[in-house]
Amino acid sequence: MDQLSIESALTDLHLPALRYNDRLDSTNAEAWRWLEAGGPDRALVVADEQTAGRGRAGRHWVTASGSALAFSLLLLAPPLDPQRLPRLTGLGALSVVSALEAKFALPAWIKWPNDILVDGRKVGGVLVEALWSGEKLEAAVVGIGINIAPESVSAAILPPAGLNYPATCVEDATGYPVDRLEVLHAILHEMLVTWLSRLSLPEFMHAWEAKLAFLDQWVELSAGGPLGMPGLLNRGEPGSKDRLAGRLVGLTEDGALKLIDMSGKLVSVAVGELHLRPALIKDSTPPE
Ligand code: BTN
Repeated sequence: MDQLSIESALTDLHLPALRYNDRLDSTNAEAWRWLEAGGPDRALVVADEQTAGRGRAGRHWVTASGSALAFSLLLLAPPLDPQRLPRLTGLGALSVVSALEAKFALPAWIKWPNDILVDGRKVGGVLVEALWSGEKLEAAVVGIGINIAPESVSAAILPPAGLNYPATCVEDATGYPVDRLEVLHAILHEMLVTWLSRLSLPEFMHAWEAKLAFLDQWVELSAGGPLGMPGLLNRGEPGSKDRLAGRLVGLTEDGALKLIDMSGKLVSVAVGELHLRPALIKDSTPPE
């Protein structure tokens, strides 16, 4: 992978500017630096390796040289109501699953809000960062990381604390070698050609919802983790836990998750430090 081969693989997408680096701290960080230096709308940053890749909720994202895909797309004044910013995470995630299905016939799912699952394991993730000026959304960076070859998920490169979800890579799922540029092109095509201009349409929400992992199943949301947010799910009620179980029924217009809880009530949960898992409820019928 180098500047010329990426430019040539992405010619038909007519990107205004593209920068490749063998090694970067983080492609998201580089996209923000580029914005400060005058980077245009749809500027693309790609790196072979990241030394300080960023994941959601302050986690570290590992991108080892030669085996993964890490890139960030800068969007100036993204075409959506600022309240609907989470749709950009949906844009990235939907584009990844659509690309994996279209190019490699791999069934892929979105573990809300930003994880991409193949065979029930995490194959990639999306990190959207935003720049606000008061209530106005000035710019956003959509960062995407995909594990391509087995080296990208080898025990040797994973964080000592382990992962918060089991990992896999595209080649383990296809069973044959995969060209990173082909994956990059397919994802960007979905993002820029298929979905970006449709972000505000019901069609986009339907497509995003249809690819949600655990749709119509019982799931549990927990607010634990290193940055735990006590009270987020139980609204501080004494004696209750920071956990919420319910049947996953879809998304709100703002990209929050909709669940029917154990008492049959519809609840929505916006993105926070939440962990979504299939629920370990033996009998999945809610109490009468
Ligand atoms: C997550 O699952 O927590 C999101 C991971 C997002 C990682 C990508 S890799 C390219 C871009 N640059 C970063 O520093 N992070 C994102």
